[in-house]
Amino acid sequence: MNPLKDKKILLGITGSIAAYKAAEIASSLTKSGAIVNAVLTPGGEKFITPLTLHSVTGRHASVDKDLWEGEQHVTHIELGHNSDLIVIAPASADFIAKIAHGLGDSLLALAVLAGHCPVLVAPAMDGNMYLNQATQENIAQLMKRNFQIIGPASGHLASGLVGVGRMSDPQEILGAIRYTLSRGGILENKKILVTAGGTQEAIDPVRIITNRSSGKQGYAIAQAALDLGADVTLITTATTLAVPYGSKVIYVKSAKEMQNAIFENLMDMNALIMCAAVADFRPEVSEKEKIKKDGSELLLRLEPTEDILLEVAKKRNEYTKLNAVIGFAAESENLIKNAESKLKKKKLDMIVANDISGKESGFESDKNQASFLFPDGSKRDLPLMGKDQLAELIMEEINKIIIKQ
Ligand code: C5P
Repeated sequence: MNPLKDKKILLGITGSIAAYKAAEIASSLTKSGAIVNAVLTPGGEKFITPLTLHSVTGRHASVDKDLWEGEQHVTHIELGHNSDLIVIAPASADFIAKIAHGLGDSLLALAVLAGHCPVLVAPAMDGNMYLNQATQENIAQLMKRNFQIIGPASGHLASGLVGVGRMSDPQEILGAIRYTLSRGGILENKKILVTAGGTQEAIDPVRIITNRSSGKQGYAIAQAALDLGADVTLITTATTLAVPYGSKVIYVKSAKEMQNAIFENLMDMNALIMCAAVADFRPEVSEKEKIKKDGSELLLRLEPTEDILLEVAKKRNEYTKLNAVIGFAAESENLIKNAESKLKKKKLDMIVANDISGKESGFESDKNQASFLFPDGSKRDLPLMGKDQLAELIMEEINKIIIKQ
């Protein structure tokens, strides 16, 4: 399911101080199973050595000398033709101008010309160079030809100025690479709605009632769905986690807000994966001003929140594309019995029952232990595993449910 596995990625590095960050990109891609062919322009070579790239990719890093003196007389054609993806990171203003006009004065520029795969370009330059009309027109030209432009970001620039022109963060570029390589997967054109995190119910402007959900399992599911080529909408409460690249994110706080966001988006969806830990109760009254402490006790009256999945079950026939609704049961006791009754009551296509009493599994952990339960009474018990791995298995089941319909 890893969209990077065995993919041939040509990583082009041009003359910019951000070239040192290309080593991180090359290293991460290689660790994820991609075959990375680094190609440096003469400018790129001034900022980072081919040896560095060779060391992190385990493969020869090409330079212009290979074009004229290499054993292969068509290095540029081979590099261009055999790539699943070309990534130019960093892309200088000069290099962008060259590829916008089809010039081929370096091995890298020739390989881009010879390639017939998607090209990602991560510009990196001084702010004024980036904003210059010539650069802007060149970038617009590339976009017209379906080159994907990532960034640049704003921040501190090598000139000492602060402005737009910094190469995007390597993690963002890696996200864009993973996303691009996953398109065309088995869930292509399928729309998946994932919820994540614990809702927050306000007591007053300062205090909330929430639960211990970290959002990790939901974010991992969103990533696994993206990896299969799906279009993913992630409805989440604020977490410290990086949003999976390519997902459409909607931030919410309370159960009510989550419910509204779900129903606003549900009409187009093929699957709803309700991984969020929705608070079951909220204060009957949410005070406008901060409640002062005066030494006496404070009694809170709580009322039940809306059960979102029950509401979805009631209106299910209105949502004709919705083929799979998946819930979670996080229980500290009688796991399977409780999960079975929720599966029936909420009319789910599958419930993921996870035991939160285990030392290594549950809320803040990176691991989870779960069983999948289905309406026909069948059950799949799984061992303790990473939340990423569990997310892949959940998506495998959802794919089967969607295909069956
Ligand atoms: O809280 P409970 O154990 O009932 O949660 C089971 C499933 O129902 C979960 O998938 C959760 O996201 C969902 N749920 C919901 N609305 C609530 C509470 C839970 O949709 N108010």
